[in-house]
Amino acid sequence: MSVCVIGSLNLDFVCRVDLLPRPGETVAALGLDRLPGGKGANQAVAAARCGAEVTLIGAVGQDDAGDALLASLTDAGVDVLNVARVGRAPTGQAFVWVSAAGENSIVVVGGANLEVGVPGAALKGHTVFLAQLETPAAAIETAFASDAAKAGIRILNAAPATEAGRGLLPLTDILIVNQTELSLWAGGGADEEAALRLLCRPGQTVIVTLGAAGALAVSADCVLRVQGRPARVFDTTGAGDCFCGVLAARLATGAPLGEALAWANAAASLSTERPGAAPAMPNLAEIEAALR
Ligand code: RIB
Repeated sequence: MSVCVIGSLNLDFVCRVDLLPRPGETVAALGLDRLPGGKGANQAVAAARCGAEVTLIGAVGQDDAGDALLASLTDAGVDVLNVARVGRAPTGQAFVWVSAAGENSIVVVGGANLEVGVPGAALKGHTVFLAQLETPAAAIETAFASDAAKAGIRILNAAPATEAGRGLLPLTDILIVNQTELSLWAGGGADEEAALRLLCRPGQTVIVTLGAAGALAVSADCVLRVQGRPARVFDTTGAGDCFCGVLAARLATGAPLGEALAWANAAASLSTERPGAAPAMPNLAEIEAALR
């Protein structure tokens, strides 16, 4: 009943600002933190804190940032045996601005994340396979096309919604997108109709995260909706990652999609009430309390 995450690890440089800078504008930071991040690592931590056994397949450089990220993942209970230490590139970095309203803008320097390969042996024995698009689409294709992954549930979080990633749709069982990503891949629209257009074979589901408005799951024969949970928003960085990690963890326990959706939605809202991405992921007891 374990989750295999194929994804990125970044050292996040998080600058708190009053308002996000506009093009051509210089603004003063209210504070600067260095925090563990990367969509793959964030999702792995969210799944582990929610009680899943989690393996992360990824890559970091042979540098201090790589050491720090591996240590924080190990502390969170994530198996990092399949995170490679590459000599050709430094550990990934992300430059994150967070406004007083909790909104963010992020620039990622991929580094070692662009060197990720997938060792076949690492794929065996997992129930759910979860990937995002900060690592090469070719590596995810190798994983999703394997017999081990075909026997499980393959979840693709199309963040960022790259053109190369679109080719993974036929190999995906559950696609998770936010409204911007949905509109990009569906060629416009951010509603149920647009989600339906992304279904390309029977048995697929498209989940659309709607921020404060909750989430929507669309398959050929059914639509599920979950309402947003009111939150005192401090920092939305990593909320989508929290949603994906918790959904994967719940599906790995055999929970039905509707229940997993409710858990993911509650967890994501909790994560917005705290600073940072990976450090903001809630634990099982906190999610259960929020659902009561
Ligand atoms: O989704 C949030 C994450 O995006 C950050 O942690 C940053 O590293 C980028 O990957």
